[in-house]
Amino acid sequence: MYGGAGAQCRLILLVVLISLGVVTLLQSLQTTHSIHDIPLSIRGHKFGGAVGRKHGSAQAIRIKKVTALFGEPNYLYEGAIATHERHNALHGYQMQVLRQRIHASFLAKPAYLMSVLVEELNKPWDERMQWLAWVDPDTLVLNQQVPLELFVPPLEEEINLIATHDDNGYFNGGVFFLRVDTWSLEFLIQVLAVPLTDRKHHVSLNKDHAALEQIMESQRFRNRVTYQPRIWYNAFDSNKTYEGEAGGLMVHLLDLGGDKWARMDKYLGNVTSKVNPHELPLEQTPYEEQVQAFWKRMRDSRRILKEAREKEKGHDAIKESARRLRFALEFETDNEVVMRGAYDRLLNALYENK
Ligand SMILES: *[C@@H]1O[C@H](CO)[C@@H](O)[C@H](O)[C@H]1NC(C)=O
Ligand SMILES: *[C@@H]1O[C@H](CO)[C@@H](O)[C@H](O)[C@H]1NC(C)=O
Repeated sequence: MYGGAGAQCRLILLVVLISLGVVTLLQSLQTTHSIHDIPLSIRGHKFGGAVGRKHGSAQAIRIKKVTALFGEPNYLYEGAIATHERHNALHGYQMQVLRQRIHASFLAKPAYLMSVLVEELNKPWDERMQWLAWVDPDTLVLNQQVPLELFVPPLEEEINLIATHDDNGYFNGGVFFLRVDTWSLEFLIQVLAVPLTDRKHHVSLNKDHAALEQIMESQRFRNRVTYQPRIWYNAFDSNKTYEGEAGGLMVHLLDLGGDKWARMDKYLGNVTSKVNPHELPLEQTPYEEQVQAFWKRMRDSRRILKEAREKEKGHDAIKESARRLRFALEFETDNEVVMRGAYDRLLNALYENK
């Protein structure tokens, strides 16, 4: 599958590297209102970091948000980005915004992400971002008090990409996390090399999502990809309802109900008013508990699968249950019910076959 893509891949890499130069140049010529304009002293570098992070090191995790906004001026999108900038200032995140149309098609998202990634990889280790968080310009921060580092994996987890699904089980690219390292670079190279004609078309009509998804799910890359519940930070507002919980971090305004702009206006009015009805201290949200339970399920599942590997020979029930849990661990980690069910089934199979 990857053999024939070599030459094309190199060509695309070249194009991307050239665009990287152009984008960097354009950005240096522009005066954008970004986190870089805010003095370091109030960016809260100390504040960000260990908040809500019970596991792993106490060191701050360096996160950069990446998004794209170009074309006709749109004050609602600008307002949405401003909610991110407040969030960034509070928690010490950087943010980079693509402001130019770099490609006529849908490649802009992975191409820009790749240029930011290459830029980061070119920095010394201690200055380099550890994670990039892609946020679509139609996402806005509802509850400023929830930090992004809450969602990144504990140290022992070898996960590079954290994504979410839509209701039909397709990848939704509104918000996702990508670790800064060479795996991620190889991943994006493969995404950009997906032949245009091969790109799956599905209901979301997002061809860039389809290309990302195709590589995410491929044999080579899927063991470092995981899925978290969408409502944590990519909660949709569909049919005029926010699907997240009280104190939810972000909302993603999809075009589903045809009422996107009015809804966005309402949210912006709310989150910029004196009393933001969505603001809630982290401790009063279910986040910490839910996220810890998520990583615990992953750990427990891996452990029991290891156990099953030693015992599954000649035991069809164990083999079948292990296969099911392995599948869930690859594609359905965002579904707590499925994960628990598959885990319990394997536990039973192991126990009954003793
Ligand atoms: C949207 O809301 C309408 C009316 O409240 C309801 O009839 C319809 O089933 C909802 N659609 C979805 C997809 O939830
Ligand atoms: C805005 O706030 C009002 C009052 O708290 C609430 O009823 C409404 O659902 C909120 N709407 C949005 C879109 O956030």
